[in-house]
Amino acid sequence: MIILGVETTCDETAAAVVKDGHEILSNVVASQIDLHAAFGGVVPEVAARSHIEVMLPVIDSALDKAGIEIEQIDGIAVAYGPGLIGSLLIGNLTARTLAQILKKPLYLVNHVEAHTYASFLDGKKPQFPLLSLTVSGGHTQLVLFTDQDRYKILGRTHDDAVGEAFDKVAKILGLPYPGGPSVAKAAEKGDSNAYKLPMPNLGKGSLDFSFSGLKTAVLRAAQATAGRDFRTPSHEIPSLLSDQQRNDLAASFQATAVNILHSKVMVAIESYSPKSIVIGGGVAANKALREKMSGIPGLLPYPPHYLCTDNAAMIAAVGCFHAKTSMPVSPLDAKVDPILSM
Ligand code: KG4
Ligand code: ZN
Repeated sequence: MIILGVETTCDETAAAVVKDGHEILSNVVASQIDLHAAFGGVVPEVAARSHIEVMLPVIDSALDKAGIEIEQIDGIAVAYGPGLIGSLLIGNLTARTLAQILKKPLYLVNHVEAHTYASFLDGKKPQFPLLSLTVSGGHTQLVLFTDQDRYKILGRTHDDAVGEAFDKVAKILGLPYPGGPSVAKAAEKGDSNAYKLPMPNLGKGSLDFSFSGLKTAVLRAAQATAGRDFRTPSHEIPSLLSDQQRNDLAASFQATAVNILHSKVMVAIESYSPKSIVIGGGVAANKALREKMSGIPGLLPYPPHYLCTDNAAMIAAVGCFHAKTSMPVSPLDAKVDPILSM
């Protein structure tokens, strides 16, 4: 079964062709990083307009690279949420229109669920119960799968997602967008013990997360290091920090964020004894996170970097699964859901 996946939930326009749920025939991602870099973050309106411009060329390129004609696909899968409404609409209207014209079945995919499926794209067979940690720019959650389509959410963030915290800390420190990779790079040259930053206390055994307190603690530490008080606006901070102070703050923040994620995974393992564990989403590309998590029994190999960040291969993989287990949706009433939860 050959599925065309379409992904436009945020700032990547992506299309992929996947065979039988795990064989990637093509995987094309047009990133908008350069467009948003000048603003220090994703501008929703700019993102939507860029999706309009590149959506069809990206789909053409995915079909080209897969060496197939569009008539040869068996179905179309599109991420319908969560995400930015303008961005979601472009991918969904495109997928709907193609499904209607080509008379192909259309499957709607939850973007966060798809990050878990990225771990199975190389044919890996997870054992259940499976613990999945998704760490991205929009989501931080722990989910227990008792089967491929049966799961319960064990915990999620009360405020910022961990990737969002990386992005905001980058801004406080004056590091370039996108924040995750630049904080990680600065952290390599810093001392992770230089600053003692707080771990949130959400109650004994809680598997929920919170990162906004940590982000504020970095701001306060940066203000104090710069010799200023808490009223100093964050945009004044970067020019007052030395490179070493910036690197030390980045390293201390990263180590604390990673410790928070690690400690929650350990609590979940103790409570649910999963047989397999997967970690997905953009922050799964983080080296310090990988080092801290290494050695956890049952941890499946990470997806390659290009499958950790947003892509359409993971959307097509879930689409293949839906195609075997559920009915397609009508292209005429397919919806988007910006705040879709799992
Ligand atoms: O999964 P993703 O591509 O998009 C969302 O669904 O949000 O994740 C993007 C997030 C951004 O916040 C980015 O800063 C973060 O992943 N990220 C990283 C790294 N690479 C990307 N965070 C920490 N370390 C990295 N190496
Ligand atoms: Zn994502």
